[in-house]
Amino acid sequence: MPRNVKIVEVGPRDGLQNEKTLVSTDVKAALINRLSDAGFVNIEAASFVSPKWVPQMADGADVMARITRRPGTQYSVLTPNMKGFEAAVAAGAEEVVIFGAASEAFSQRNINCAIAESIARFEPVAAAAKEAGLRLRGSISCSLGCPYQGEVPVHSVADVVRRMRELGCDEIDIADTIGVGTPVKVQEVMRAAAAEFPIERLSGHFHDTYGQALPNILASLEVGVGIFHASVAGLGGCPYAKGATGNVATEDVLYMLHGMGLYTGIDLDDVVRAGDLISQAIGRSNNSRVGKALLTKWASGPN
Ligand code: HMG
Ligand code: MG
Repeated sequence: MPRNVKIVEVGPRDGLQNEKTLVSTDVKAALINRLSDAGFVNIEAASFVSPKWVPQMADGADVMARITRRPGTQYSVLTPNMKGFEAAVAAGAEEVVIFGAASEAFSQRNINCAIAESIARFEPVAAAAKEAGLRLRGSISCSLGCPYQGEVPVHSVADVVRRMRELGCDEIDIADTIGVGTPVKVQEVMRAAAAEFPIERLSGHFHDTYGQALPNILASLEVGVGIFHASVAGLGGCPYAKGATGNVATEDVLYMLHGMGLYTGIDLDDVVRAGDLISQAIGRSNNSRVGKALLTKWASGPN
């Protein structure tokens, strides 16, 4: 099991993208700054996608311009095509994320093209990222199941992992978009992905819809995965996966990992405060159990 675990904080992107009410640029930037201060080495800060498809992410360039860059934190952005890539470069992103799917039906609904076509669209983005010396990450939606197609064969995931490796991805995310995966299946998928790509550069991106994300993280750790995505206060959902709830809450993941003696370099209390801040700012209940427990404990005074 890896002793050092990298947590990619995706709340400002995956978390907020599904909020119906527009969140102000100031609130987004303040959240990212609080998260940087908490010690994350990687924060997914924005998406450069069509504003018609995801209106909440339309101010990505302003968000990137307004944040205070902390040395040691990499700021990542989603870039489905060259238009997104150019915006990402202009915004000074350190890592760009191409995002595909292991399910044809989801690929069509999320990025409006078939899987093979998406890989062709990613080719120039990947080449340009390498040329510009940027990190390149590939995300694979529906790796544990699809809201439209249902079961997704493990070989379909492995196939997209291979194609993303061929594109030159530095890191690849195995994403459970709708949170349906369970631990043994997750291990099977991670092992199949690891046959195509170094396991130390694979990550687990688990939405917590069915409450399986923590066991799935534990199961992934057991097979050697050491990178996980999480969203402060459990913010989020996916606009193209009806009923999908947020990513696993960062606070809950940190509590588990730190309790197991694993190192993340992140201050849990700072993340709890950031989770409280954003939940209040957008008028939403805090979906982190650890966050709520600690806030209640702190409110009741010294113990
Ligand atoms: P399209 O309609 O096929 O593309 O969309 P297009 O090239 O024909 O462009 C259509 C319009 O979008 C044009 O504008 C373009 O200029 C504009 P119009 O002429 O109609 O005014 N456009 C853009 N604008 C800004 N930035 C861009 C950009 N590209 C085109 N980069 C496209 C294809 C991929 C663009 C579209 O389908 C899209 O933006 N989809 C959004 C997908 C998305 O953001 N989904 C959520 C994030 S992924 C996710 O949450 C999953 C993940 O968390 C893992 C998991 O949990 O599964 C990562
Ligand atoms: Mg997601």
